[in-house]
Amino acid sequence: MTTPTIELKPSSSPLSAAEREAILTNPGFGRHFTDHMVTIRWTEGRGWHDAQLVPYGPLALDPATNVLHYAQEIFEGLKAYRRPDGSVASFRPDANARRFQASARRLAMPELPVETFVEACDVLVQQDKAWVPEHGGEASLYLRPFMIATEVGLGVRPANEYLFVVIASPAGPYFPGGVKPVSIWLSENRVRAVPGGVGDAKTGGNYAASLLAQAEAAAKGCDQVAYLDAVEHKWVEELGGMNLYFVYGNKLVTPTLTGSLLAGITRDSLLKLAADLGLEPEEGRVSIDQWQADSANGTLTEVFACGTAAVITPVGTVKSERGEWQQSGGEPGEVTMKLRDALLAVQTGKAEDVHGWMHEL
Ligand code: PLP
Ligand code: COI
Repeated sequence: MTTPTIELKPSSSPLSAAEREAILTNPGFGRHFTDHMVTIRWTEGRGWHDAQLVPYGPLALDPATNVLHYAQEIFEGLKAYRRPDGSVASFRPDANARRFQASARRLAMPELPVETFVEACDVLVQQDKAWVPEHGGEASLYLRPFMIATEVGLGVRPANEYLFVVIASPAGPYFPGGVKPVSIWLSENRVRAVPGGVGDAKTGGNYAASLLAQAEAAAKGCDQVAYLDAVEHKWVEELGGMNLYFVYGNKLVTPTLTGSLLAGITRDSLLKLAADLGLEPEEGRVSIDQWQADSANGTLTEVFACGTAAVITPVGTVKSERGEWQQSGGEPGEVTMKLRDALLAVQTGKAEDVHGWMHEL
């Protein structure tokens, strides 16, 4: 498969430095976008072609475009950070590229070569480098690569044309208010994904399917939904957009990748980073009964959620039909914060990158 060269067509009217700086003082999450985007097309019989860096702007789609009807779509999320010397590096873009390929296979879409995915992200970050927040805090430039089926027609089959796009958005904390424990609604009836389904693919439909449960959780005063497995309604899987870790003193357990939860890159990184810190991380199954009982008997000392957007976020209150309880007194736990600091130190270039995770631009 040939990799197309990305043609640069920079914007003639990017936002002024003053407008950009105003946004960067409080970027929020996913509210503002940089001046450019990268687009690459795929056509059956021709492969990947027309790779371009162009001004950020609307996509014109025929109303009968396949993705609008049958949701043949996949996406990724990764971050680029400003380092102490002012340079910029992204976190494990190759891992996102490989997961994008896995999602593409599941959604019957063409696989973008890993090097093209990484190059597309690099070209966009290079062009819009001024949008990468200053070193110092935990702000970053969030990259959102995605691919949609662009064939026009209402036939239900894999499309013969696709569009790959990368956009970028400066990001402050995902949950406003800094490191504040999130409250969780433990959903015992709504499921996010089923065995044999698409739970381990990063495809928009999974998120659409989670919105009602999310709204129900919000009505109960909770920030996020924790999902159980769809067969026994017993085993804890993940949140709508984050993986989970259960902390038992020095021992950490994260739910096993059963096929119906997403193989988070933060989750994977923490399996390694926790071991570096002398903790004992492992993959395993955690039941809802165990979660409740071990919280009550005090052996489950902390619970946290992790993901690119949310980094590491402590779980405070847990609510469910069976009652309500608090993790680590509703405060951020010690292990949670130690891991959070360690991960951010690598990502922002403050700590040595022993695993070779940072991709310098
Ligand atoms: N689980 C789901 C459903 C997600 O959407 C995400 C976010 O990407 C994660 C877990 C965490 O994955 P990662 O650490 O790769 O961001
Ligand atoms: C990410 O963490 O990158 C995600 O895609 C999660 C999404 C819910 C914002």
